Amino acid sequence: MSLLITNIKQLILTEESPRQKPLRGAELSQLSFIENAFLLIENKRIADFGPMERCPERADKTWDATGRFVLPSWCDSHTHLVFAKSREEEWVNRIKGMSYEEIANRGGGILNSANRLQETPEEMLFEQASKRLNEVARSGTGLIEIKSGYGLSVESELKMLRVVRRLKESSNVEIKATFLGAHSVPMAYRNGNRQGYIDLIIKEMLPKIAAEGLADYVDVFCEKLAFSVAEMEEILIAASNYGLRPKVHVNQFNCLGGIEAAVRHGAVSVDHLEVVDEADIEVLKASETIATLLPSAPFFLQDHIPPARKLLDNNVAVAVASDFNPGTSPSGKMPFVISLACIMMRMQPEEAIQAATLNGAFALECAEDYGSIARGKIANLIMTKPMPSLAYLPYAFGSDLVDKVVLKGGLF
Ligand code: NIG
Ligand code: FE
Repeated sequence: MSLLITNIKQLILTEESPRQKPLRGAELSQLSFIENAFLLIENKRIADFGPMERCPERADKTWDATGRFVLPSWCDSHTHLVFAKSREEEWVNRIKGMSYEEIANRGGGILNSANRLQETPEEMLFEQASKRLNEVARSGTGLIEIKSGYGLSVESELKMLRVVRRLKESSNVEIKATFLGAHSVPMAYRNGNRQGYIDLIIKEMLPKIAAEGLADYVDVFCEKLAFSVAEMEEILIAASNYGLRPKVHVNQFNCLGGIEAAVRHGAVSVDHLEVVDEADIEVLKASETIATLLPSAPFFLQDHIPPARKLLDNNVAVAVASDFNPGTSPSGKMPFVISLACIMMRMQPEEAIQAATLNGAFALECAEDYGSIARGKIANLIMTKPMPSLAYLPYAFGSDLVDKVVLKGGLF
């Protein structure tokens, strides 16, 4: 089965020889594209692309993309899209003046989501998560990371990760699973027995998750209201014995030294980074770790804006992801996230688009198959509606400019 797309106004993020490493600093603004292009898909993969002058004569199916842009699908490398219930009542309380920390310290926030999730059957969680996954796929997401972290008990963390496994089996979106048992310390362990919960993660959750092969990565929410740097390190060391590399939540509200520790433990990415100090920048610029920025969380919380320009000016590898979750980013729509990256973090459209595609794929160690238009990569593509320019896509925020989505070679 072959599909030929012709007369593409601009074919975006083409690579003649695919990169082996994420784009860093100024490289993010250099976006390669072909004007008036064709793209040929054969057997789920990109077989060829180039200028219309050398377009093949025929294929099983042909689409005319006159006036339209074709891009690699979004690679959303940080989400929590399995959850049991929305939390708009907390959001209304925040509008009235309560802070995210206050709500969390009163047993709301993540613990609220955990209570709901513990009561919800696996089947129902799967159905709800499938709907969200289809929604984000329709907006162009073709590779996604999904975390646990609303279980916070052995049984419920396993339940969440089994839901992610079923999503992997049933969806054409490529999925990576991350174990986030260390998302919040359950109330029962807060009075002098935090170590009891860390032991539960290390001695019970991790061995069971590893035995069933349920996770690709490990995550810890390293923050004053969650886990300390030392606690994070203990968990990362234990997870490394099962071959799980870290992708961690750090520097959302406070600089605690989590970035340096995570990098030392071989983190693929450090995520959030709303607050970053000079020492953090020094560590990141000398490391291979990707800084994953999640602009919809500070947008929704009206909190500090990640210093994207400073990170890029210091030659750091930056990715952009949605953080889709019920507490701080109740949307997983990447076109809006890319708009926010430009509007709030002053990323150029080219930078934001490459951070949300190729660098997102690197943040999931999937760039050999995803993240760009390169021969041999999986055909995961977005075809836009007719648009005047590429910058129009993030500029016209809220407009639904994604027309067709191709996942693994087929129309989604
Ligand atoms: O990435 N900060 C930690 N975790 C999520 C929020 C979780 C929640 O509030 O439910 C985040 O923002
Ligand atoms: Fe998150």
